Amino acid sequence: MSDDFGNLRELYQEVIFEHNRNPRNFRYLADATHQAVGHNPLCGDQLTIYLKVNDDQLIEDVSFIGQGCAISKASASLMTEAILGKNINEADALFEAMHQMFTDEHPDLDLGKLEVLSGVREFPVRVKCATLAWHSLHNALHGTDQVAQTE
Ligand code: FES
Repeated sequence: MSDDFGNLRELYQEVIFEHNRNPRNFRYLADATHQAVGHNPLCGDQLTIYLKVNDDQLIEDVSFIGQGCAISKASASLMTEAILGKNINEADALFEAMHQMFTDEHPDLDLGKLEVLSGVREFPVRVKCATLAWHSLHNALHGTDQVAQTE
């Protein structure tokens, strides 16, 4: 990751803007094998994450729908890109790594493109927006029916 915080902030804004305007995999998935709803009680926004996992435990397809701010939508969009084709253990490990990135000031992680989301740490109240999709993913992977709350 660049040490130049200005560049990170610029990239963060660019990526959020672009993924919000053109979210990847923003659709209902009729043949999903796993799904979960995430809810941010601070604003009422809600996302549903869908996964199609095959017999080899690979995520063959992933999508999301719902109402959310630009950050929550961009984070969900980036997440779907990142986990498509991964197996469920890898997706789970990515959830843990992202959780660390969102909460730790100095995580020793290499998350590639997803690191741009660390820019949200500058705006603590928006961290819940960025984590909404990831908490939902975690619940979907673990077959939890409960709505994932960011609180
Ligand atoms: Fe609702 Fe961001 S303001 S999820």
